[in-house]
Amino acid sequence: MQTTVAIATIALIVHSLSAVVWVGGMFFAHQILRPAALALEPGPRFELWDRVLSRFFSWVIAAIVLILASGFAMVYGVFAGFPGIGLPIDLMTGIGVVMMLIFFHVYFAPFRRFRRAVARRDWAPASRQLAQIRVLVGINLLLGLLTIAIATSGPYWA
Ligand code: HEM
Repeated sequence: MQTTVAIATIALIVHSLSAVVWVGGMFFAHQILRPAALALEPGPRFELWDRVLSRFFSWVIAAIVLILASGFAMVYGVFAGFPGIGLPIDLMTGIGVVMMLIFFHVYFAPFRRFRRAVARRDWAPASRQLAQIRVLVGINLLLGLLTIAIATSGPYWA
């Protein structure tokens, strides 16, 4: 019993804070930094995004590892596994996995091409790749907000 309470407490704190870092970071990048950075010339703007996204994506990778570890710790250490665990947690897991796949696609495809274009100072392809990253991060932001809405309200409607 004591162990279950300890797992639940620690895992839920780690899980929620990791979600805050990931989803809050996407909100800031997409809704605040992006419109503000549009005032910059293309060169400095792309170099800024190169530095911003490199740092942010390292945090996202750490957040994903912690979300998965703490999520599965709760599923198997607090609940009795996935069968019968309830719709909110099933939805959270499903949408969460889609968000992770989208993130790793961004990280290994458009972001990698964006960095190569910025290193060559080739602004046209850099602009195209950044536009793709913006769309995919926008989708992940909506999915992340939806997941948090489901996770927090779930106990009241499921
Ligand atoms: C991908 C695998 C995931 C698994 C297996 C998982 C599992 C869980 C579990 C078991 C809980 C505890 C629910 C309860 O005590 O009723 C939880 C809570 C939570 N999860 Fe997830 N989760 C995952 C992904 C995510 C993602 C991607 C986000 C947000 C971006 C997220 C946000 C939250 C939040 C905010 C809570 C706290 C809800 C509350 O207690 O009010 N989870 N998760």
